[in-house]
Amino acid sequence: MSIAHGIRTLGVLGAGQMGTGIAMVSAVRAKVPVLLHDRSAEQVKKGLSLMDKLLAKDVSKGRLTNEEAKEARDRVSVVSNEAGIRGFRDVDMVIEAVSESLPLKQSIFSSFAAELRPDAILATNTSSISITKIAASTIPEGQSAASEEGKKSASRVVGLHFFNPVPVMKLVELISALQTSEETLARARAFAVACGKEVTVSKDVPGFVSNALLMPFINEAIMCLERGTATREDIDTTLKLGMNHPMGPLQLADFIGLDTCLAIQQTLYEGTRDSKYRPSVLLQQMVDAQWYGRKNGKGFYEYN
Ligand code: CAA
Repeated sequence: MSIAHGIRTLGVLGAGQMGTGIAMVSAVRAKVPVLLHDRSAEQVKKGLSLMDKLLAKDVSKGRLTNEEAKEARDRVSVVSNEAGIRGFRDVDMVIEAVSESLPLKQSIFSSFAAELRPDAILATNTSSISITKIAASTIPEGQSAASEEGKKSASRVVGLHFFNPVPVMKLVELISALQTSEETLARARAFAVACGKEVTVSKDVPGFVSNALLMPFINEAIMCLERGTATREDIDTTLKLGMNHPMGPLQLADFIGLDTCLAIQQTLYEGTRDSKYRPSVLLQQMVDAQWYGRKNGKGFYEYN
């Protein structure tokens, strides 16, 4: 028997491209009230203005009526900086979509465990970081991982990996930590389905299925460029027209964000010690130069 998601209110932490997209599909497709929080008010403003643009486009293309778009937009409210994570105290599930840093996520999940209801599902949109390590950070202070409280707290942590652009990409990768309960997994899956997504399941290995395959491919393309095998355009065109990829690998790296690609590759390399995951020197240098791709206007290509 399939379990219903039972999410009456959702919290989304992080209003970047992923968090905004997750908030939008949750409000439009799953039709749940969403509380959105980001410590940067500027980021929230940008995220909401992107959402307004995308909703207006959906109306103009006849995918939503004016009324449906307005109802969806009204479901999204912002949690102030004063309230912070405490603003999520009554949600049934929270999805964290902040940058790819283990210490940052550990500190956030420890606060989730302290501030949120004990039965709330704690999901992370991480692209590669160990869900098992994140889950361990929710064990209450003074408790052991084997205590009832420790097991219960970690059992509600799950990986719910959306893809960019979230409103367009049809997949969510569902990742179970060692500690995740069957109920948490089933409810998280049901929620992703309610958001209109297909779900695949991956074990909690570095990069899961998606990035364990995608990142070596992107990295190999960067090394092709580094070695002077071909120009950036010819590398991308080869994959676009020769293999029918929607974007070439260098365009895709810019789209994901070069800092994010590097962070994922470092997690893969550190987590496996396998040289096939070693980030290329050029990628490292481009991130050192603060060339992050589309998000700040300069990557392998230039953007206005
Ligand atoms: N946000 C929301 N919608 C967007 C968007 C964005 N950032 N960018 C494009 N779109 C929408 C467009 O508005 C358009 O919608 P309509 O059909 O309603 O008009 C649709 O996507 C197609 O866009 P375009 O016609 O402008 O351009 P396109 O045909 O080249 O498609 C694309 C754009 C969908 C991004 C396509 O190039 C693509 O699929 N690229 C590959 C994306 C990909 O691989 N994403 C996964 C990255 S990995 C990841 O996210 C996870 C990770 O762990 C790193």
